[in-house]
Amino acid sequence: APSILSADITRLGEQVREAEKAGANAIHIDVMDGVFVPRITFGSIIVEAIRSITSLPLEVHLMIESPENQLEQFIAAGANTLIIHIESTDQPKDVIQQIHKSGARGAITLNPETSLSAIEPLLDDVDQVQIMGVNPGWSGQTFIPESLNRLRKIRTMLNSIENNPVLEIDGGVNEKTATEVVNAGATLLVAGSSVFNLQESVTKSLRRLRESIAHG
Ligand code: DX5
Ligand code: ZN
Repeated sequence: APSILSADITRLGEQVREAEKAGANAIHIDVMDGVFVPRITFGSIIVEAIRSITSLPLEVHLMIESPENQLEQFIAAGANTLIIHIESTDQPKDVIQQIHKSGARGAITLNPETSLSAIEPLLDDVDQVQIMGVNPGWSGQTFIPESLNRLRKIRTMLNSIENNPVLEIDGGVNEKTATEVVNAGATLLVAGSSVFNLQESVTKSLRRLRESIAHG
């Protein structure tokens, strides 16, 4: 799931179309409010614009305070999955329920320093669990190695319950770490700077990333 945080925003449409053509499975949109994390990025207008040019599922990663107040506008804009942070709300179960009522998929994530036990009570309710490989806020950061242990632990927890959510890793995924995160149990990989960069086309970058896993 290429993250448009690293895309050339002056050519956002082209970049998303190229990612779709190159076989991306979803588009990852990082929404930041300048409060939960220091920067401000995209709002629902951008989600709507991307919705109009791609048929890929759109996953919106809400790095915002009080996500419960913003769910509707992102779903109305065409988001298929909303990823909320456990640190951003006191009522995570209600938020996931609200997302489901509005017809979207609900995902939970947590910061690297937050204990995995914080999301354990939600594993039965969510469609997707996301482990952060970096601290939220920026793309292009180095993968935090401990995230592999966290993926393995969550994979073990998921194996012992009936619900079978997608296990996603977000942050620091590149040719070197992709195989490791897959071996640790991730089934959906977010990739920002390793897909959208100045070195290579989106098509080549995505192919290289996929091949690195196949050969891993
Ligand atoms: C970080 C974002 C990530 C980011 C990943 O706050 O949640 O989605 O775009 O970028 P890379 O893949 O470059 O680490
Ligand atoms: Zn993200």
